[in-house]
Amino acid sequence: MHIPTTPKRAATAVVALAAILAMVAVFTIVRSGDSALAAPSYIEPVTPTGEVHEYRLVAAPTSGALVEGTETDLWTYNGSTPGPEIRITHGDTIRVILENNLPEATSIHWHGIRVPHAMDGVPGLTQPPVEPGETFVYEFTPPDAGTFWYHSHQRGNEQIARGLYGAIVVEDPAEPDYPVDAVWLVDDWLVDDSGQLDPDFDSYEDLHHSGRWGELLTVNGTTGTTLEAAPGQRIRLRIVNTANARVIRPDFGSLDPVVIAMDGLPVGENFPAVDIDLAPGNRMDVDLTIPTDAQGDFVVGDRYTGSEPIEFARISVAGDSVDTPEFPTPVGDVADWSGLIDDQPDHTVTISFFSEFAEATSEEQDEMLAGEQFGEFLWTLNGRVWPDAETLTATEGELQKIRIVNESGQMHPMHLHGQFFQLISRNDEPVNERHYRDTVLLTAFQTVEIVVAPSDVGNWLMHCHIQIHAEYGMAMLYQVEPDTAAS
Ligand code: C2O
Ligand code: CU
Repeated sequence: MHIPTTPKRAATAVVALAAILAMVAVFTIVRSGDSALAAPSYIEPVTPTGEVHEYRLVAAPTSGALVEGTETDLWTYNGSTPGPEIRITHGDTIRVILENNLPEATSIHWHGIRVPHAMDGVPGLTQPPVEPGETFVYEFTPPDAGTFWYHSHQRGNEQIARGLYGAIVVEDPAEPDYPVDAVWLVDDWLVDDSGQLDPDFDSYEDLHHSGRWGELLTVNGTTGTTLEAAPGQRIRLRIVNTANARVIRPDFGSLDPVVIAMDGLPVGENFPAVDIDLAPGNRMDVDLTIPTDAQGDFVVGDRYTGSEPIEFARISVAGDSVDTPEFPTPVGDVADWSGLIDDQPDHTVTISFFSEFAEATSEEQDEMLAGEQFGEFLWTLNGRVWPDAETLTATEGELQKIRIVNESGQMHPMHLHGQFFQLISRNDEPVNERHYRDTVLLTAFQTVEIVVAPSDVGNWLMHCHIQIHAEYGMAMLYQVEPDTAAS
């Protein structure tokens, strides 16, 4: 359900309020068994269309041109990175036959999609790993429309870094039809002088810092990606950060796109796409109208790492101007849970690490330094490492507040499978985000508070999306039990 914005803010507010009241009448979400709060509209069940889209994804080593003129050894789905774009209409079913031709086990996770638990693609938790030569069939009807992505969930520090990911777009027929609807999967690669991927996917350096940051940004698997547009054109651009560790802050120069969705779901209020940090896993959909007097190339770059944007793609404007379709910029229903800021958290998750080097005596450290052997290093959540991790428990339909404390000097994009959440505070200051998320970035020593409306029963993984951090311990379970008291 989407409420169109009108130029008159008051009218929008009335419509939005009416929609929220209408929803409360149907769904309730409780908080500590008392006050009913606005339920998220996304828990409304999807009506299946009966349409099934079948894909066969073959994971295998191959080579490809990230940069023109060099062949890089990659691991891909169906011979290219990204793999095929999966694009369906809301209500359609996706069936994917994964065939593993890699030298090691694999699986696919559908990032941001509230799939049934058995389809979530976490080896050892929701399915056995898919061994070389084996196949596995995934089938689900995405309950939410929006921009999602799929990626390997086995040794992501190598498998995602080698190219095993792709886009999933679930189109909402209730949303306006943009003349151009494009997906940009932004990735960051650590390559050597010969154009090959740095083979040290388990680098100690990357592990105890913020993961594997590269120096080569690609969009849809290549440098020099250009979106062709005409003056006056209205574009829906879906940007996904698929990097193993690098954060990107998209900069559109003199263009002024407006955010319409974050992490898949429509935002409650549109805002300019300026200074938005997309951590690994995050998505942002923007509505962009090319000015009618524009001509030439517009550089889109990353401004997270430097003061000058680092180009990752271009929008090339040429030709006669076209008619700009007039429709309100889409917004969605977003429940307001900001009032929970003063409540006690239901769970606190502390991010820290265990370092054999740090625990050693100074003589031992000297030896370790000389031998460049630093011993074990693990990332911990509440002092424990996956799979011996703590389990956070929740009951379906009971709103929870989770406090996440980063006691480390590194950054951690925390991702929750199976549910969306709302970020309500950073360092105990309200953030007033009018949208949902499935991934939130904590920078060094930051504390955040999120509110989750547990909507999907199951044992869901919560982990850092810096792949090497997750691989070395940084994951735990979020267990959602059915509400047995409900009639
Ligand atoms: Cu996109 Cu568990 O991950
Ligand atoms: Cu991390």
